[in-house]
This record gives sequence, structure tokens and C-alpha cells, in this order.
Amino acid sequence: MQHYTSLNDIQDLSAIIEKAIQLKKNPFQYNDIGKNKTLIMLFFNASLRTRLSTERAAKNLGMEVSVLNISNAWNMEFEDGTVMNLNTSEHIKEAAEVVSQYGDIIAVRAFPTLTDKAKDTSELIINSFKKYATVPIVNMESATDHPLQALADGITLEEQKSEKKPKVVLSWAPHPKALPHSVANGFVHLMNKMDVNFVITHPSGYELDPNITKNAQVVYNQEEAFKDADFVYTKNWSSFSDYGKVLQSDADWMITQKKLGKAKFMHCLPIRRNVVAEDAVLDGNNSLVIEQANNRTYAAQVVLKELLTQLK
Ligand code: CP
Repeated sequence: MQHYTSLNDIQDLSAIIEKAIQLKKNPFQYNDIGKNKTLIMLFFNASLRTRLSTERAAKNLGMEVSVLNISNAWNMEFEDGTVMNLNTSEHIKEAAEVVSQYGDIIAVRAFPTLTDKAKDTSELIINSFKKYATVPIVNMESATDHPLQALADGITLEEQKSEKKPKVVLSWAPHPKALPHSVANGFVHLMNKMDVNFVITHPSGYELDPNITKNAQVVYNQEEAFKDADFVYTKNWSSFSDYGKVLQSDADWMITQKKLGKAKFMHCLPIRRNVVAEDAVLDGNNSLVIEQANNRTYAAQVVLKELLTQLK
């Protein structure tokens, strides 16, 4: 593994999930592998889980960690050939190579604009880091993907499933703000690689990028989609076709305990209570949200360990 910017960077997903489960049993078994190595985490956007779990993962491997909120650095330019006489002060060409002098792995969080579809779809920021940095890049959520979250969700599903081939439903839910597609896309990538019966449900107009969903089954009736579900993974996302727009905020799509039935509930967090899912769901025994957050550490740890092994 040279970089970790998508689940496709993992050759054998089942093997990586198994390695993560083993790391979880003994998180300090490789606490020397990152000695004298530094992880630099660059945040263009806010984070609670990604920041703390990735730092913890790196420290479990013996790494040093430096964290920079990009709002505290120079405004960065990503376009090639720009005359930089406006408000950007530093080009990614220098910035990525400079940061590579200070760290052995660079992790980046950069959300989409949700206004410039072409720019977001091209993954300009994460791909620019890949292009100009001289060390491995880890995606801590980019314009279109969240592969650390997806891997943590894969670990959680593997740990929690009681059927060999469970039915997993990805359900859109309401939210007052326009949110990225990254988590939903990452989960679809995961489902394409796991042995599951996968169904997506959302109101009309919220179809995800067809290049990502490909042949996934979409059921527009949420109740029908939830029938016999073992897991319901819930997430809001804005429209992809009417890019970045909130088309409706239909409270009928909120996840309730009645709709959920016996299915286990998953969400990446943070979650708006009684908007996305009611209290009874989040406080109930079938909620896996804390375990998903816990598994973020072992997802990051197994990825960092693979990258460190390549550095040696
Ligand atoms: N799920 C997730 O990525 O959480 P944060 O945005 O808090 O990092």
C-alpha cells in the first residue's frame, strides 16, 4: 500500500479487517514500528473522531504526531498556472513537498465545496497532495470519500453480523444542512467489496453518483427497503444531480425504533438527535454508533501499520 486514499488501495479487504480485529485485541503489539516516524495530520475542516482516533492509532504504533488546522496556515492555492495576486499565499507544489520534509506520512481532511461539482469530483485537494508530496498520503475524508470510516464500518459489520450474508440497507435521512456524499460513497464502496445483500433507499432526487453506485439496488420506499434488514446504515447527503442542494427535509425519513425493528443501527457520527434518528434508536441496544467510533482507531492503525511497513 503506497497511499490510503480509497478502499481500492487495500488489496485484500477481508485480510485487513481481520488484522484490525487482531490489533484491537492487543493495540500495543507493534508499538515500535513507528519509532522515529511522524504522522502529520492536516485539517481543512473540523473533526472529533477522525482527529482523535487517528492520533491514538499512530501513538499505539509508537509514532510522533503533528496536527495542523489549515485555517491557521497560509491560504493554499491548488490550481496550476494561477497568478496568485488574490488571497492565496502558498501553492500546493511547495506546501506538499515542504510538509513531506517534516513527516513520514501525511493525513489530509478536505471536504467538498458542494458548489463546484467538477472540482469536487476530481478530488483536487487529495490528488494534489498525492502528486506533490514525497511521502504516503492518508485520506481522512475528502470531497467524495471517507475510506477510514468505511474501513471502520467494515470491521464493525464483520464483528456484529450473525448471518453469513446479511441484508444491509443504506438509508438517507433528513438534515437541515447540505452535507457531502463522502460517507455514503465510502459505504457503497465497502458494500461492493463485502458479501452482503445491499439496498440503498432515499427520496427521489437524492441518487448518489451513478459511477459509484453502479448496479446497486435502489428502493425508493423506505419501509419496503427495511424489510428483513440486519443492518440499517443511516446518513444524510445533499443532491448529487442538483449538486449540493437540499431538495426537501422530509421528517418522514427520520429513523425510528418502530421502522428499525430488530435491525442494528449504524451511523458515522456526529448525528442530530430527533432529526436523523430518534433518541430511542440512539439510546437503544441495537445502536452500533459507539462501536463504529471505537473501530476508527483500529481502522487507522491497520492502515498506518501497512504504510509504515512499506517505508521500512
Ligand atoms: N465520522 C467522522 O469522521 O467524525 P468526525 O467528523 O468527527 O471526524
